[in-house]
Amino acid sequence: MDDANDSKYSCTESLHEIRQLGVYDVYKGTYDQVGVCDGVERVIAIGCGTAVCELEFLKRVAPNMKHLILVDKDAVCLEQLKMNLSNSLHKDIVGELHSSEAQQWQGPNIRVDLITMFHCLYYFKPEERKEFYRKCFNDWLNPGGKLYIKLAKDLHENNDEDTLNSFYRKTGRRPQLEAFTIKEEVRSLGYKIESEHHYEFYLDLKLFNNRMLHFVQYDATPPYENLDVIKKEMNKMIADGKKAYGAGILFCVVNNVSDKA
Ligand SMILES: C[S@@+](CC[C@H](N)C(=O)[O-])C[C@H]1O[C@@H](n2cnc3c(N)ncnc32)[C@H](O)[C@@H]1O
Repeated sequence: MDDANDSKYSCTESLHEIRQLGVYDVYKGTYDQVGVCDGVERVIAIGCGTAVCELEFLKRVAPNMKHLILVDKDAVCLEQLKMNLSNSLHKDIVGELHSSEAQQWQGPNIRVDLITMFHCLYYFKPEERKEFYRKCFNDWLNPGGKLYIKLAKDLHENNDEDTLNSFYRKTGRRPQLEAFTIKEEVRSLGYKIESEHHYEFYLDLKLFNNRMLHFVQYDATPPYENLDVIKKEMNKMIADGKKAYGAGILFCVVNNVSDKA
């Protein structure tokens, strides 16, 4: 681990650097499994950050996309997002950016065919999630539209112990919400999980630097004051020969009721 003073590094940048250790490749393999969704022209990406993942996903799943609406509350990642859009989107595709909390956003002017929500539901309260699904299916999506959610696994359906959440538990922080909880939640509300794709990765902890650890620091609830606890715990894991393990599910939610109607 280096000792550089990287405290100004944002969560988004930290996460990007961690994912470059091999996570992006795993994600791409997962998106490849989804296949093309026919007829998808208009898309909303909620909590997109710099949209690196969403753009890779949509390239594969919605090759005929004409309009992409991106919503994120973090204005800091907006410049990088604009750059990623101009590098990745075909010039004929309209990109529309909204710097807003998804819960407060007024929604699209015209209904869309697909909505993505990748690694963002962690930050919603239960009642906000319920209202969000309702808006997606009642107000924003066309009939037959799909909501693609991607979230980490934790205690359920997992092949190993999730490193981030086990670390949060050991140090008195709240574990992040897991995919299983959301799948149960949407089913209990009458929606249907149409498909799901599981992924997992192991990362070499010795490759983690201070900048990457800022993600662990700030994403914790409550956040850590500094990196000391994190480094201590990581050094223990490295001494025990452990790697960082992460896994998750990309799943597609549809509106059971309207699909039958
Ligand atoms: C872990 S990052 C994931 C970024 C991207 N979706 C991905 O998978 O790479 C979570 C993102 O959700 C955004 N976010 C968190 N709460 C939000 C909210 N209430 N409304 C909109 N965006 C939110 C954060 O700003 C951040 O960009």
